[in-house]
Amino acid sequence: MSVHAHVVGWGKYLPKRLLTNDDLSRLVSTSDEWIRTRTGIQERHLVEDGETTSSMAVLAARKALEIAQLNPAQIDLIIVATVTPDYIFPSTACLVQDLLGANRAAAFDLSAGCTGFVYGLSVAANMISAGTYRTALVIGAETLSTITDWSDRSTCVLFGDGAGAIVLQAGENKGGVLATSLGSDGSGRDMLWLPAGGCRMPASSRTVKERLHFIHMNGREVFRFAVKVMHSATSDVLEKIGCSLEEISLLIPHQANQRIIDAAARSLKLPLEKIFSNVAKYGNTSTASIPIALSEAAELGRIKPGDLVICVAFGAGLTWGALAIRWTRPLPQVTPIWRRILRSLFYVMAIIRSYLRRLSRRLLSLGVQEVPRDLRGRRK
Ligand code: COA
Repeated sequence: MSVHAHVVGWGKYLPKRLLTNDDLSRLVSTSDEWIRTRTGIQERHLVEDGETTSSMAVLAARKALEIAQLNPAQIDLIIVATVTPDYIFPSTACLVQDLLGANRAAAFDLSAGCTGFVYGLSVAANMISAGTYRTALVIGAETLSTITDWSDRSTCVLFGDGAGAIVLQAGENKGGVLATSLGSDGSGRDMLWLPAGGCRMPASSRTVKERLHFIHMNGREVFRFAVKVMHSATSDVLEKIGCSLEEISLLIPHQANQRIIDAAARSLKLPLEKIFSNVAKYGNTSTASIPIALSEAAELGRIKPGDLVICVAFGAGLTWGALAIRWTRPLPQVTPIWRRILRSLFYVMAIIRSYLRRLSRRLLSLGVQEVPRDLRGRRK
């Protein structure tokens, strides 16, 4: 009996702080009119003090788990797609695992530019179909405001912060992730990149002075590339499942620029009502853009069981990818209050458990004898 990876939960988190186009026009030489007409973006959300990629990822994941009606201890795999991890290592996925109390999960980060979430969902769906895991949490989360050069008007108007999460679960009924199509072309690595901070150009006073820890981009080239691969990746994934463009219920494109979305719609000859867009409200949130859009579309009732949803993205690398999903999950009932309280208690326990583990390691390093425990923290 073949196993299918179904979308059973979704959630998004956008930080409270808003940055409008008018706010930006006070920072750099730009205007609301220029930004709206060239990008379609009206405002974006930015992190507040203390918020990070992992903290936003956890809030999105909690919502997705609530919709899936699953406990974090049931998760087998956590993938966090991001270009702005909390640290180079440990992975943000491990921080999320700890904060959720997902004590059975394997966890790793995935870097594939803005296509990272599509890559991540593809990896997780294939591991589920292969029978390796039953339940996977895939997150796209970004704090792009920390790598945005707020003095560069050609990039700073484009990006925003946020997180989105999807829960995949094995099922024997048909549907879920039907096919994926992924691609890359590293010869375009300097079209969109962050030059310093890796081993090729470690951080130094020179790299900081030359602003090499910020996003550098050739906007026109990325635009051309984006329109081309949105078309080819969508066509490729449809061919894999033997469906035509007319059979698409909703296309969820990477939310980078409304003009790229419109150009892709024209080139695919898809009516605009079949294309989901929220770039006006959030800007480009990189790996978070597709899971945020997918969650919002589901919340708004734009996706119903039986629908064929195509997600298509492009990004640094260069990378691109598309996913075909047959939606099987109806909009969930409102979660009863007692279940929400239990869930909150679970998360408080996870934080306490993490604190106690760190404390016990510290005590151990001071020579205090520890009670032997197994990997899940139970007394042996
Ligand atoms: N406000 C006002 N003027 C601006 C500006 C801003 N924020 N940013 C650039 N300009 C100016 C440029 O300096 C240029 O002036 P010049 O003609 O005097 O040199 C002019 O506007 C046109 O610049 P251009 O780069 O041709 O604009 P564009 O129409 O290509 O739009 C982007 C620029 C960045 C919006 C567009 O190329 C784009 O969206 N590219 C894709 C980027 C992307 O999606 N990246 C993420 C991928 S995951």
